[in-house]
Amino acid sequence: MLQERITLLEDARIILGVTGSIAAYKAVDLASKLTQAGAQVDVIMTAAAQRFVTPLSFEAVTGRPVFTDMWQTASPDLPTHIAHIGLGEGADLLVIAPATAQTVARLAAGLADDLLAVTALAARCPLLVAPAMDGGMYAHPATRANLDTLRNRGAIVIEPEAGHLASGHMGTGRLPETPTLLGHIRRAMGRHGILAGRRVVVTAGGTREPLDPVRYLSNHSSGKQGYALAQAALDAGAETVLISTVSALPAPIGAVFVPVNTAEEMLEAVQAHCASADILIMAAAVADFRPARVAPHKIKKAASPKRESTLELLRNPDILMAVKEGRERTGWPRVVVGFAAETESLLENARAKLEEKGLDLIIANDITSPQAGFGADTNRVVILDRESEQQRPPLASKARVSEIILERAAAALRG
Ligand code: CTP
Repeated sequence: MLQERITLLEDARIILGVTGSIAAYKAVDLASKLTQAGAQVDVIMTAAAQRFVTPLSFEAVTGRPVFTDMWQTASPDLPTHIAHIGLGEGADLLVIAPATAQTVARLAAGLADDLLAVTALAARCPLLVAPAMDGGMYAHPATRANLDTLRNRGAIVIEPEAGHLASGHMGTGRLPETPTLLGHIRRAMGRHGILAGRRVVVTAGGTREPLDPVRYLSNHSSGKQGYALAQAALDAGAETVLISTVSALPAPIGAVFVPVNTAEEMLEAVQAHCASADILIMAAAVADFRPARVAPHKIKKAASPKRESTLELLRNPDILMAVKEGRERTGWPRVVVGFAAETESLLENARAKLEEKGLDLIIANDITSPQAGFGADTNRVVILDRESEQQRPPLASKARVSEIILERAAAALRG
């Protein structure tokens, strides 16, 4: 499957600086994924980087020439004839991944001794640095001080990960994998988005109501739409909290992740995080009932020898009703968005929930449609508001649907 384009990165101009670390091979994958996402990626390689990977690898994945030479002049792909000025001009982001101790030191000192260093001085866009090196070198006070210098100048430093290093030792110094790097790039690119400075809380997944230590009651919610909403909120620049029952999906980089299981735990987390939230989006499929008793030990079938057995259930709290009450007192959250997953009378049921739960928007979701709802990567929704307006976006990826929902929520916040 083709990687999906990422709206935030479409036509973004990204300079990727690659330096001489064993992790340089990972930068080929990063360049490829950025290109597939829709970005225009110009790669600058240091001389040391070319000892690990050839420029041809980057040219093949980006479809663009790779820059290696400070003395290089005319290039039809650049706005000016001087490479380091032309590369920096109009760039949206300079990412240096992997960044060796040597390059971190050169950047901190403001040296201008190769094309990457000169471009970093000339560029006016944000700088993202992903150090990768031996654990001892990373921990050295000189490297720490150099990274602090870069941070103090506004650079974003992506912390390396702990694990196996090229030396055979264990330590902190590994370049994170592409999805993590991409997450940081999205965060940097989105920081002036339509929700910059706003707080968004999203819930995701089906709640799990325990019956005994090995069993729970739940539903088919995969959490995909909630995770996509959290990513879209981050892309729009929001401080984002993701309250989720799902742990199988990677949490979007930059989100505060709050794991929960039951409806009661979710209620508590929502109330704790909504006190100052601008937008709450309840994408979670909350179980309306829970087992009346949780058995301390595994329930044995011998305990119910008859063919039938009855499970007594108790009503769970309605989280959105509790939020409505709190909002009447405090005014927070400013905008509340609910979901209505229905198998019949979609719009009638959705509208009734919008009214009853005091929502600003409700996302009506016909879960009988094969390309929509639980588990699918796409969704077909109808967005209803208090003025009885209906918006029917076409069938689209859950990522795209999330952007449309966030745009509507942001408009409601402004209005
Ligand atoms: N919801 C909630 N608390 C519950 C149940 C649902 O906050 N105990 C939220 C869901 O997250 C969703 C909206 O309410 O945003 C509608 O959920 P849904 O399950 O479709 O509706 P219910 O209110 O449970 O009504 P019914 O089960 O009768 O359709």
